[in-house]
Amino acid sequence: MTHNRSIMAATTSSLSTVYPLGSRVNERGALEVGGCDVVELAGNFGTPAYALAEDDLRARARSFMRALADRSPGGEVLFASKALPCVAVERIFVEEGLGCDVASGGELALALRAGFAPDRIYLHGNAKSPEELGHALQAGVGTIVIDNLDELEALARLGPEHQRVLLRVTPGVHTDTHASIATGQTDSKFGVALASAPDAIARIAAVPGLKLAGLHIHLGSQLMDTRVFELAAAAIASLGEFPVYGLGGGLAAAHVEGAHPPAIEDFVAAQVAAADRHLGAGRRLVLEPGRSLVANAGVTLYTVMSVKRSASTWVAVDGGMSDNLRPMLYGAQYEAQVADRLLQSGGSGEHCVLAGKHCESGDVIARDVVLDAPRAGDVVVTPATGAYCHALANNYNGVPRPPVILCRDGDARVVVRRETYEDLLAREQPGDDADDGA
Ligand SMILES: Cc1ncc(COP(=O)(O)O)c(C=O)c1O
Repeated sequence: MTHNRSIMAATTSSLSTVYPLGSRVNERGALEVGGCDVVELAGNFGTPAYALAEDDLRARARSFMRALADRSPGGEVLFASKALPCVAVERIFVEEGLGCDVASGGELALALRAGFAPDRIYLHGNAKSPEELGHALQAGVGTIVIDNLDELEALARLGPEHQRVLLRVTPGVHTDTHASIATGQTDSKFGVALASAPDAIARIAAVPGLKLAGLHIHLGSQLMDTRVFELAAAAIASLGEFPVYGLGGGLAAAHVEGAHPPAIEDFVAAQVAAADRHLGAGRRLVLEPGRSLVANAGVTLYTVMSVKRSASTWVAVDGGMSDNLRPMLYGAQYEAQVADRLLQSGGSGEHCVLAGKHCESGDVIARDVVLDAPRAGDVVVTPATGAYCHALANNYNGVPRPPVILCRDGDARVVVRRETYEDLLAREQPGDDADDGA
């Protein structure tokens, strides 16, 4: 198994391979992403900011589409939009021919705005509200992935007509990932356990207006080992034969150099082989990659606010857990560089703790990064932040959420604007203002 081959080759050799496709160090010594100098981006759009390389998004989408079409024609690749719920990004995936996985009414609204054909949208979620189910029916969402029997009853009460559904099953498979993102085990909050699945299948069949097309599994995220698909496909084979199988997402992304997730081609090949062997050749396979499509397309730009040299060197930047929760949630690791003094891989510099601005000691973006003489005012870049960073962004400490900037061939376009203090105040109710007081 190797890192994504075609994608690595396009990154300049002096840069870590986790930067977006086509990234380079320019004549000024600054990082360029999508042909844009990131120090200039920071100057023009402020920090913190997410910058995305459009070509990288398209390249990975094409790799997935080709990998599936070559091995299992008639299948479908969906973008798991929770990884980067952003209309402009979703529109790129519409153009590349992907469908969309949404996990809430809000993600459904974004997907519709992006232009996904409703028929190509799959609605997920373990606690869908009747309103969300109603919206999905109204919008003509192609497939609802039923998670549990209460949801089935709620859906039946809405009187669906010709609604295609899949049943999400937890196959009882353990994966090599963090407990917070493992979902294939029997005791999971998602889906019905294997033992309960026959009953759920019978109940779905008894609801007029629902058409059970097949089964769905999602084993977990940040998966490095593809052998779990063999176990999972073998497990669900006992539930009968279906025309459609949703195999979920989960392919790991490399956040730091030296992490070598399976290549897209190898991951898809393993999924298809497992399905062909245990579920029968020629089934319609539906894949739902999230992070592996978008993580490496993105970088986050910060400005250094202070450098404190004590037992450690603490480099504090103007963002942190409000724009990247993953280190705090999963112990995720990141690299960092001063954006116009990039060290060669393994180059010597100062070992630093990259700390955020939030009122938590745990607000640390990276525990040990090597930076070239960091000082206040430097722009620092953390690569591989395209997935689950914008998605998990929040307003802790009243910090406005960063913009998303799409970069291609040297053009930079703000596709999600920076939040403002006015945005933060907009939901507060009139009557509580200081000047309304007695
Ligand atoms: C049902 C489902 N499909 C796909 C995904 C995408 O996973 P990943 O981003 O790891 O590819 C998730 C992630 O939570 C999921 O729950």
